Amino acid sequence: MSVTVRPVTSAVGAEILGADLRKLGDADFRAIQEAWYGHSMILLRGQQLSDDDLLAFSRRFGELDPPPNQERGRISPPGYPDIYVVSNVLDKKGEPIGALGAGEAVWHTDMSYLDMPPDASMLYSLEIPANGGNTWFCGMQAACDALPADLARKIEGRRIKHDGTYNSGGYLRKGVTPTDDPMAAPGAWHPAILRHPANGRATLYLGRRRNSYVEGYDRAESDAVLEALWAHVTQPQFVYEHVWKLGDLVMWDNRSTMHRRDPFDGEARRIMHRTQIKGSARPVAFAA
Ligand code: OGA
Ligand code: MN
Repeated sequence: MSVTVRPVTSAVGAEILGADLRKLGDADFRAIQEAWYGHSMILLRGQQLSDDDLLAFSRRFGELDPPPNQERGRISPPGYPDIYVVSNVLDKKGEPIGALGAGEAVWHTDMSYLDMPPDASMLYSLEIPANGGNTWFCGMQAACDALPADLARKIEGRRIKHDGTYNSGGYLRKGVTPTDDPMAAPGAWHPAILRHPANGRATLYLGRRRNSYVEGYDRAESDAVLEALWAHVTQPQFVYEHVWKLGDLVMWDNRSTMHRRDPFDGEARRIMHRTQIKGSARPVAFAA
């Protein structure tokens, strides 16, 4: 085997061709890892992975992270606590077999409400609806490089508070008191601009919009800065829209991308199996 790397946009994402993840040699794995560092998101189509195959491939990138605190607790396939199901499908008792339902998942990066967020997340598609449920990625390094100088100055040296109250589907996390006050909300402070530990590039780290707050401003000023930042990063030139096929594996870097998901017909079935690579270091400010 020998893999080929084909960027899907100039800002984010590359498709890896010619790889069967069930039997991947070390040289091909290193090429995939390089592509991931270089493009922040990788796509491998036409895979046929069991849960064990998915775990084995995931573990080559590092230790796995337990699933996030979602609206309905920890949801994994039986016997696979390190796999997390993203699905709207209900079981025989009418309980969801996975997280996030069929609604929109707004722009976010995974679990940035923790001091040490996961380095990476991956989704493998097992069932997909005929329409909708596309997943969008935003290249935060390209967006950071293109930041207008006046906007960059407003966040230089500052931290952002990342909210731990709600998930990207708008659901309240388990055991958390609802609030719209960023200061009262659980969460973590991270530098607004990070240095990526693997490729050294500057990356904007916004997390998610709801209950976000930029330090050193009053709430209204902070909201104005955040609105400008979000308007900037979600421009089409920084974004890739992924239309799923069965057997797609997509892996993203949580430090240098954000993602969102389109809603889809709740009567249709969508099942993704997902893993997360544990954070290897606390996010560090670019200037530091
Ligand atoms: C996730 C996520 C989006 C999707 O798994 O972290 O945001 O397309 N999923 O299911
Ligand atoms: Mn997510």
